[in-house]
Amino acid sequence: MCGIVAVTGFKNALPLLMNGLEKLEYRGYDSAGIAIINSETQNITCNKAEGKLQNLKNLLNKNNIPGTTGIGHTRWATHGKPEVKNAHPHIDSSGEVAVVQNGIIENFQELKNKLEKEGIAFNSDTDTEVIPHLIQRELNTLGKLNLDNNGSTLLVAVRNVINDLEGSYALAVLWAAAPNSLVVARRQAPLIIGLGEGEFMCASDTPAIANFTNIILPMEDEEIGLLTPLGVEIYDSNNERQYRNPISLNISEQIIDKMNFKHYMLKEIYDQPETAKNWLEKYLIKNSKNGQFQINLPFDTSFFESIERIEIIACGTSKHAAMVGSFLLEQFAGIPTNVFYASEFRYSPPPLLPNVLTIGVTQSGETADTIAAINMEITRRSLVEDETFKPNLIAITNRTESSIGRQISNIIDIGAGIEIGVAATKTFYAQLLSFYGLAIQFAQIKGTKSKEEISKLIVELYKLPPLLEDLIEKHNQSAEKLAHDFFNIKDVVFLGRGINYPIALEGALKLKEISYIHAVGYPAGEMKHGPIALLDKKVPVISIASPGEVFDKVISNAQEAKARDSYLIGIAPKCNGTQIFDYLMTMPESNEWISPLLNIIPLQLLSYHIAAHRGLDVDQPRNLAKSVTVE
Ligand code: F6R
Repeated sequence: MCGIVAVTGFKNALPLLMNGLEKLEYRGYDSAGIAIINSETQNITCNKAEGKLQNLKNLLNKNNIPGTTGIGHTRWATHGKPEVKNAHPHIDSSGEVAVVQNGIIENFQELKNKLEKEGIAFNSDTDTEVIPHLIQRELNTLGKLNLDNNGSTLLVAVRNVINDLEGSYALAVLWAAAPNSLVVARRQAPLIIGLGEGEFMCASDTPAIANFTNIILPMEDEEIGLLTPLGVEIYDSNNERQYRNPISLNISEQIIDKMNFKHYMLKEIYDQPETAKNWLEKYLIKNSKNGQFQINLPFDTSFFESIERIEIIACGTSKHAAMVGSFLLEQFAGIPTNVFYASEFRYSPPPLLPNVLTIGVTQSGETADTIAAINMEITRRSLVEDETFKPNLIAITNRTESSIGRQISNIIDIGAGIEIGVAATKTFYAQLLSFYGLAIQFAQIKGTKSKEEISKLIVELYKLPPLLEDLIEKHNQSAEKLAHDFFNIKDVVFLGRGINYPIALEGALKLKEISYIHAVGYPAGEMKHGPIALLDKKVPVISIASPGEVFDKVISNAQEAKARDSYLIGIAPKCNGTQIFDYLMTMPESNEWISPLLNIIPLQLLSYHIAAHRGLDVDQPRNLAKSVTVE
């Protein structure tokens, strides 16, 4: 949700800002803008454009803007429509203070009213615009103290202003009178500082600065920093200077190439055999004594013994992975498990129970609702004196350096590599695998499954990478063909049952988010309780029918849809029963436990090809952003 990049140093700021914005565009693409200070004239030049970053590039038309200190922003609209006037940076009335912000200033209206009473005119509908005006007012009050050290003055002014802000923010501020200083601050929105050669930078996410440095300092909540070409100072909310060791990033993981694929999403679908291979190599180890493989989670799991119940908190696609996880944890490992939307959990959590494991699932590690729900859970559990109520936490994330990575120490790093397509594919895959790992570990510790049953599941996991390669190749073609026939449909129903019900939900979510076609996922057996009324020949039904416990039931439910004239697409093997499908996306015969890990592939490809066939911006669908850092 909005991307921020900022730099100060001895080099021209513009190339880094534009490169950073390109890498951050996945966070929001309603509009973009930059502001750079010319240290000789002490003027701020600001350029903004509505729509994609390309529009800003066209506006700049390869012109250089001199200056070594600047800020940039790519926006996902919250307050105010995606228009130039609402694009960041926002500048105060004197033109001296420029601000980019990611987050939501909840008390902006109250602050705006006060400023307007003082005669300050606003140029935008955003919540952010109050910040430059407040900073300018504060600078006036401070009387531009100590003009030989304006950076410190700006730091004090910004600190005083953020004390009055409610909500969440990550922000970067320029002041014309301090042309070599940049002040940055964060509260519940991501911000990292990068230590480059002859320049210091700051951004919402690591890829934005990966071409310039691999050394970062993540900022903590409530911290404020002053960056100058000579160094970085970070202070906490008590104004105590903070010192911490920088982290070194794996640069190759941060620099992402689309290769020959038309879209990142397609590349990321094709990445999945590798994703699976990497996950298996990381989390399965061979026991040297008996030659058997076992799950090797990266933290001490002996506390699993006392766990009686699991609660999983997640949003969107991560929640669908959690639902498959819940099925495995209950049905394979025998632990009662509930999955919650983070946005619901934060305001209506279940009553506290003892010996609960709370799992936060978020690929970005920055989803505001998930982070807040986990914080709330930690706080309310910490208030109970009884030891059995203490928080037991695991995070499943793709970004260990993110907010959730700093919140929770027991992390399963899904290791999918950075995902650029806004629609999650390979990270979903690696989240699913992580739940298989957890379920196996619990089953081992609790003794709910025999060694043979566990080995059988592990062997099935090992077969995945080559199987996936074949499936992707085959269904890339069948999905393209189907997309040709179906790209104009208006509604689609996805059906699944048991372990594949969440896969139906995920299939529907993928289709709607990138193709803008209305789609709904349903447990196949529930159709007859209402949604069947929607069906007719214009509404195709995609039915996931994997041999196992509920296969016959799913086939009967598909039959009910066929009787209402729906065109039936099956995600199923060619076997007795599946001849009812009008079109079969043929799946290999597989073990039912593993089936979600196969069934998701044709569904991802079908959504992709339908959206691509409609000529849509698959990687950056309208109204969405990769990292949802606002509530
Ligand atoms: C769908 C999608 C979103 C995210 C959701 C949670 O393709 O990407 O539904 O899954 O916003 O994001 P994370 O996992 O980063 O918490």
